[in-house]
Amino acid sequence: VEGPSGVIERYREWLPIGADDPYVALGEGSTPLVRANALSEKLGSEIWLKVEGANPTGSFKDRGMAVAVSKALAEGATAVICASTGNTSASAAAYASRAGLQPIVLLPAGRIAAGKLAQAVIHGARIVQLDGNFDACLDLARQLADNYPVSLVNSVNPVRLEGQKTAAFEIVDALGDAPDVHVLPVGNGGNISAYWLGFTQYADHGNASRRPQVWGFQAAGAAPLVNGAPVADPDTIATAIRIGRPASTELAIAAKNESGGFFAAVDDDEIMAAQTFLARKEGIFVEPASAAGVAGLLAMAERGEETGGRRITVTVTGHGLKDIDTALGALDPIETDVVQADLPAVAAACGL
Ligand code: F0G
Repeated sequence: VEGPSGVIERYREWLPIGADDPYVALGEGSTPLVRANALSEKLGSEIWLKVEGANPTGSFKDRGMAVAVSKALAEGATAVICASTGNTSASAAAYASRAGLQPIVLLPAGRIAAGKLAQAVIHGARIVQLDGNFDACLDLARQLADNYPVSLVNSVNPVRLEGQKTAAFEIVDALGDAPDVHVLPVGNGGNISAYWLGFTQYADHGNASRRPQVWGFQAAGAAPLVNGAPVADPDTIATAIRIGRPASTELAIAAKNESGGFFAAVDDDEIMAAQTFLARKEGIFVEPASAAGVAGLLAMAERGEETGGRRITVTVTGHGLKDIDTALGALDPIETDVVQADLPAVAAACGL
């Protein structure tokens, strides 16, 4: 199937895709690593943002989905299935469609941002909205893949993590070495595990002199890894990380422990404030869940915790346009008065 160059062409020797295997690509990866000037100043550190909203479907999921759908294609699958809080389903729908496979997505009803649902619809996914949360959707997706001819493309499928680890490679390739710290939002625990795999492989291979600490931030109402116990009824405005029983709990804890990092929680107000900070100070519009890492850093600075003198990379995981309802809902209402088309009136309306 191929397509524009993506993570498989760029990092094939690190991925479980053979030279002659079919693969699908939409130009995923090679996302911007943007120096965060305002955030760097606030923390007294050198901070870089890995802007994963720049992927083809607007989130980091495309890296793993390129590899997972390629594998499914090579194994003769005709359909793929996933449970999702929205981004995985958007990505699965796009990559499966490109590969000629039927995407099927299980979603928690009423908890998917409109942009993400639109992606699943427009790419022709079979959409099943469940009366249950993400954790229930994932249980059922696993059972369906065990019992029916459909291939599971959630991150419990290890090839998803293989694809997602390429973001860590790109960071080291761009900076010339691993950062001191890597920060990211955590939901199901897949991405933090993927980054740790990538940083570890690069260090083992001599492409980096060391591995970073990894700091993972969860939403306070959905923080099983912070609490050390599952959350039966997770809730947060950041619907992408509204997860109570992370499938990759063990791998995520190993990444935290082996790196000497930590998990911490940020509340919804901190998440929304970080989203606005990124938009207004750095020029980067991310969805609420994607702001959790930055929210965590800002909260540490606020509390006077030691954040200075380090090189810190932060993954901002998905594009802000995915969920405009939440973004606009957190701000003052938009000025809707219509202004007369004459210069003084328009100048006054412009605040000039
Ligand atoms: N940020 C965004 C925007 C996400 O969509 C997700 C996960 C995460 C962070 C957390 O990553 O689960 O690997 O720890 N979204 C999944 C989905 C659950 O279905 O789209 P994680």
